[in-house]
Amino acid sequence: MSSTSLGPRRKPSRKGSMADVPKDMLQEIKKLEDMFTVDTAKLKAICDHFIKELAKGLTVEGGSIPMNPTWCMGFPTGNETGTFLALDMGGTNLRVCEINLPEEKGEFDIIQSKYRMPEELKTGNADELWAYIADCLQQFIEYHHEGEKLDKLPLGFTFSYPATQEYIDHGILQRWTKGFDIDGVEGKDVVPPFEEALEERGVPIKLTALINDTTGTLIASSYTDQEMKIGCIFGTGCNAAYMETCGNIPKLAHMNIPADQEIAINCEWGAFDNEHKILPRTPYDVIIDKDSPRPGQQAFEKMIAGLYLGELFRLVLVDLHEQKHVKFFEGQDIASLRKPYSLDASFLSDIENDPYENLQETHDVFASKMNIKCSKPELELIRRLAELIGTRSARLSACGVAAICKKMNYKTCHVGADGSVFNKYPHFKARGAQALKELLDWETGRDGKPLGRGHDPVEILPAEDGSGVGAALIAALTLKRVQEGNVMGIRDPEGMLKGTAAAKSGNKQVAPETKK
Ligand code: GLC
Repeated sequence: MSSTSLGPRRKPSRKGSMADVPKDMLQEIKKLEDMFTVDTAKLKAICDHFIKELAKGLTVEGGSIPMNPTWCMGFPTGNETGTFLALDMGGTNLRVCEINLPEEKGEFDIIQSKYRMPEELKTGNADELWAYIADCLQQFIEYHHEGEKLDKLPLGFTFSYPATQEYIDHGILQRWTKGFDIDGVEGKDVVPPFEEALEERGVPIKLTALINDTTGTLIASSYTDQEMKIGCIFGTGCNAAYMETCGNIPKLAHMNIPADQEIAINCEWGAFDNEHKILPRTPYDVIIDKDSPRPGQQAFEKMIAGLYLGELFRLVLVDLHEQKHVKFFEGQDIASLRKPYSLDASFLSDIENDPYENLQETHDVFASKMNIKCSKPELELIRRLAELIGTRSARLSACGVAAICKKMNYKTCHVGADGSVFNKYPHFKARGAQALKELLDWETGRDGKPLGRGHDPVEILPAEDGSGVGAALIAALTLKRVQEGNVMGIRDPEGMLKGTAAAKSGNKQVAPETKK
């Protein structure tokens, strides 16, 4: 009886409860622990290499981390105003928002609609993609502004893939990431076909800024918290953005921008260590890469991001079953476990969250979802494996955060984070904070207080809505620059104002009536 009762809230690791696990299974667990554990020394070595790679990405020669300048030239003041649209082309959904930034500092109102991204679209062709997106925007406008005669609405488009931007209203897709594989987009500027699709439909929208979700997160978070210095996404993909000064960006030197001018850099750190010099890859990481649409790319991301966590877990279980001497799921038909990408990160979250000491929920879900009956020792291995994969993800992610802090010499700061793994994966935050402590050698918290929530010198905190509010703010900052005649990194400053409320109202964008 006692084994099925709800226990106290569990610590991040429950290594101690393996008493009844047979020796051979313990050996397998030990092997997995050796493979997936990243100790302090390794964390530090990865971080040191990371710092060098961040700098290398800013040079003319470049490295594997793209370090893309975004032409978002500084933080918001909190006094931005106006009405903007934001479009977020995320993985599962397409989200359209209308954001009003009122006179009150740091405030905003938002209305939004979500549209499902059809699975076929992710591997379809470019025309279908742009047509679908334009249709959603048209629907949004028709629904929320029925019968109104509208000025053109400025739009911030969150396109969360690596893009080379010569201007903020321009972006050549370097390569698809996160399993997307749409023909005819890579290597091309995504803005013209997007605008053409809008024009064909007569949708009154003008693209003002093409942004990355990390840049949006950085800007949205700093709108309400001035200590925010880094924006991160720990979700389907993993990446970060931070504010750099142009003097530190050799690849922009030819543009003679003042050295102290700020510009947000979208690191695209998912590509860290594509040349496999430092990350402790397991054979399972190698398989994930080999079987992905873009082998050789996104080495770091493939070890830590939500898209891959469930798949890593699945590959290990299948492998254990195949090794006849291990006797794992022995004599059972594991056909349903053989389907690639059939388990997502929430499956691992659920295992780590199983409140029952005998792992009843995990037992039941394997039985109902995959028709596999797990023994108690098998369940113990399964739970430990989920912990190992989740912990590795959090610890490796922290290396990137620490690397930016060290590069920029931030002794204290806030990091705004968003994404399903950050928001939903159990213990991700605590494990990340622990790794930062090891990486940055903290003895005490801020002002000599003990380490812990609220006192850690660098804290990763839930971000404001980057691809909504962040996109709107970046559009606002861009329009403001156009109005002030500061058109650095803006391709079409005139076109940006034409037909919008901003053009009519002189120096300030007029906010139409707010809707909630
Ligand atoms: C992938 C994309 C990157 C994005 C991240 C999080 O790494 O390449 O642009 O920021 O996922 O969504």
